[in-house]
Amino acid sequence: MDRDTVRHRSTGQSASGGGDEKHTKNVVDEPEEETGDAGWTTLIRVVAGIIVTFVFIPGLLLLLVSLTVPAPINPVVISVPEPPKLEGALEVNDLLTRGERLFENEILGPESIVFHKGHMYTGTEDGKILDIKDGKISVLATLGKPPCDVVSLKDALTCGRPLGLRMHGGSLYVVDSYLGLFKVSVETGKSQLLLSEIAGVKPAFVNNVDIDSCGIIYISDSCRTWHMKEFLYPCLEGSGTGRLIRFDPHNNSTEVLIDGLHFANGVQLSPDEDFVLVVEGISARILRYHLKGPKKGQVDTFVENLPGLPDNIRPSSDGGYWLCGALPRGPGFSLFDFLAARPLIRKLITQLFSIDTLLKYPAPSTSVYKLNAQGEIVRSFWDVHQGILGVCTEVTEHDGVLYTGSYSSSFIGRFDLKKMETA
Ligand SMILES: *[C@@H]1O[C@H](CO)[C@@H](O)[C@H](O)[C@H]1NC(C)=O
Ligand SMILES: *[C@@H]1O[C@H](CO)[C@@H](O)[C@H](O)[C@H]1NC(C)=O
Repeated sequence: MDRDTVRHRSTGQSASGGGDEKHTKNVVDEPEEETGDAGWTTLIRVVAGIIVTFVFIPGLLLLLVSLTVPAPINPVVISVPEPPKLEGALEVNDLLTRGERLFENEILGPESIVFHKGHMYTGTEDGKILDIKDGKISVLATLGKPPCDVVSLKDALTCGRPLGLRMHGGSLYVVDSYLGLFKVSVETGKSQLLLSEIAGVKPAFVNNVDIDSCGIIYISDSCRTWHMKEFLYPCLEGSGTGRLIRFDPHNNSTEVLIDGLHFANGVQLSPDEDFVLVVEGISARILRYHLKGPKKGQVDTFVENLPGLPDNIRPSSDGGYWLCGALPRGPGFSLFDFLAARPLIRKLITQLFSIDTLLKYPAPSTSVYKLNAQGEIVRSFWDVHQGILGVCTEVTEHDGVLYTGSYSSSFIGRFDLKKMETA
């Protein structure tokens, strides 16, 4: 209406300029204005159509899903600081692309790797403990019972899943996520179940292990509710039901050292055994439980706000520690940090997609960090395209070489440290 009035006024004004001109103008103006109106209407229709199609209907469907589909998790806000700036020791490089893959497609999810007298040992997704010697792979032991269909949780519960491995006193100690803690003879492959219950309850998801010089064993229990195959649920829920357990095999006593951990994962004793570290995966930090000294029995933070969510932690040859960022928080957009603050979106994700579907999305980058004895990051290696490594869950240093394990990859990564140091 206003526009019309303005137009008439202006044509009225131009009338003083000359009748012919006015007439011509009107003839030309009128159809133009009509096309303009039609254009606007069409535009509004298109925009409305887009909004209805791409916003309103999907929004309504999502609301319906969120209200009707039962959610497997009850998520809470995960509080983490802003991801650290990737500068200094964290400056992004391409050093991880210089590695190679060993035994590609011959190994299924070698999460943890140990070396002993020229042998390499690892545990796989189909419940096996592999003995690798001179490039040949053989099965040292199976802890559970077949069938070992790697997809089915029902099978996994009886087949087992060796996750954390350590060598101690010439024996292999294996945390099987479903079955418990085993001691395995590397000569005969015979296994002995050491621990299958914590305070009378079978744990759902034990993860990693370390053993001190007296044979006292430290074990992480990732969460109370879910099994390893469902690990995305505790991660997406953000609740803290994980524990650090001390187990004394001399009298079979167990003790909860830390409770309420947000996805308890890697375990590592300090070189002097004056503290034990436990990775709190979805808090992007590592806690320290003091075993000796004035702080004995106390817990503090060893390192926080890591640039990726850590999994296992292993010693470096110079008194520090190696970590992998199993899920990166950069460079670029951090899906973890976006979701950490948005529990309802995490809930909706679990209502819309199965874990298997979610796990098909590859992590956008891989990173390895070296911590010094004080917990400061002193070095980082990156592969921002994940060309070589895939998801990395453990870094084991052996004879100047880094070996990387992964719960999901079909190879072991190998990186010559010298090549990286001279880069
Ligand atoms: C500890 O438990 C294991 C098996 O669960 C058993 O064989 C062993 O005798 C127990 N040791 C002690 C000291 O009770
Ligand atoms: C088990 O033995 C350790 C010493 O090795 C002792 O400190 C602990 O109290 C014992 N636990 C039980 C339940 O007897």
